[in-house]
Amino acid sequence: MGVQTIEEQAWAALEKTVIYYQNKPVGTVAALDPDSDALNYDQCFIRDFISAGLLFLIKGKPEIVRNFLEETLKLQPKTGQLDCSKPSRGLMPASFKIETINGREYVRADFGDHAIGRVAPADACLWWIFLLRAYAIATEDMELVHRSDFQEGIRVILELCLVTRFDMYPMVLVPDAASMIDRRMGLYGHPLDIQSLFYVSLRASLELLLPNQSNQRIIQAVQARLEPLTTQLREDYWLDTERLNEIYRYRVEEYGEGALNQFNIFSDSIPFYKLAKWLPEAGGYLAGNLGPSQLDCRFFAIGNLMAIISSLADEEQSHKILNVIELRWSDLVSHMPMKLCYPALEDADWRIVTGADPKNRPWSYHNGGSWPVLLWMLTAAARKMGRAELAHHAIAVAERRLVHDQWPEYYDAPDARLIGKESRKYQTWTMTGYLLAKELIADPSHLKLITFSYGGVL
Ligand code: GLC
Repeated sequence: MGVQTIEEQAWAALEKTVIYYQNKPVGTVAALDPDSDALNYDQCFIRDFISAGLLFLIKGKPEIVRNFLEETLKLQPKTGQLDCSKPSRGLMPASFKIETINGREYVRADFGDHAIGRVAPADACLWWIFLLRAYAIATEDMELVHRSDFQEGIRVILELCLVTRFDMYPMVLVPDAASMIDRRMGLYGHPLDIQSLFYVSLRASLELLLPNQSNQRIIQAVQARLEPLTTQLREDYWLDTERLNEIYRYRVEEYGEGALNQFNIFSDSIPFYKLAKWLPEAGGYLAGNLGPSQLDCRFFAIGNLMAIISSLADEEQSHKILNVIELRWSDLVSHMPMKLCYPALEDADWRIVTGADPKNRPWSYHNGGSWPVLLWMLTAAARKMGRAELAHHAIAVAERRLVHDQWPEYYDAPDARLIGKESRKYQTWTMTGYLLAKELIADPSHLKLITFSYGGVL
């Protein structure tokens, strides 16, 4: 037998991660590291499975995706309750595992009731809708999507997200640590990563919901939400030189409907001089969070890349985001694509905002660490905008290390030169992120599974 290519090695490792329920493949474990304590890495995380699911669809293996969608749908509570010890109606679990008790198999879900920090998985249901749409496009199996349990599943997710709460913003309000960044990181409120996925799931659900009596009300609500959500994100989260100038000279304490500085952002809270120096003239990006007197200027990769993929960012904005990645390559990519969040919180900020979390110390893990899984989103975003050279470059950087380092979960240090301090090896989404990036660059027609068109919304 000849020497295996990087891709063959990744496929061989990936096949071992598949988990079975009643003899059917239903998902993949988060990591299969022989040298580390499993903790909850022996579970199938909804968010971790997305890149695996897309890859299986592209490779003509839709059964595992179908089984995953069906089994996770069964875990979703369908009835409303006022009991905080039960997961809310519409919520999807962060993860699940198969347990065998007295010879019988059970699917056991974690809705944040077991998770470290008891964090809420707000992103899981949004990713689920995204994968369902990809499944429908890849297989043209609309029968599954149109089944009443699937239509109900979509509906209850949307109801959970669209429900009016205390605020009157179009964005969805979530607790801190409610997404891939599942530890305290100052993302309470309206973090971009969640808003981008919220936008994705609204766009996707308009394609998936049948225009019938039971769906009429929710379809109208989705349509009514998309426009203000898009405007708020494109305008108020946007940061480029022009916007920085506006914010710098903002009036404060404005009262009433006509206020320009709606969120009463105080100029002194923005690191203008650092930011003006860092942000290239040709660049721009969506800020990390927005709320009362809060504009979090950190760059978050998932929110920005998914904004390009979904057309939440318009064409000009999408190019500007990619310009930032290209022109600030040594900060955002360097030795491994790419930073989950930039820059890191340091010193007092780290202590106060993360709760002095040692796993999230500066330039590690979620706090300025680099995650190879993001390679597929970077590749998709770059390819969509006709900038394949960026994707090729990023893939080449990743390829130099991933196999040798045994597919680490994340990398540390400002230039991503160190394998993450507590990083798992043979992390599944590191492998699938890489394999998916290779598929997307080899045959860009696969982009149709994940991208959305411009227009039709505004
Ligand atoms: C960590 C990550 C989370 C991921 C999980 C499994 O908890 O923060 O995003 O889903 O590991 O890989």
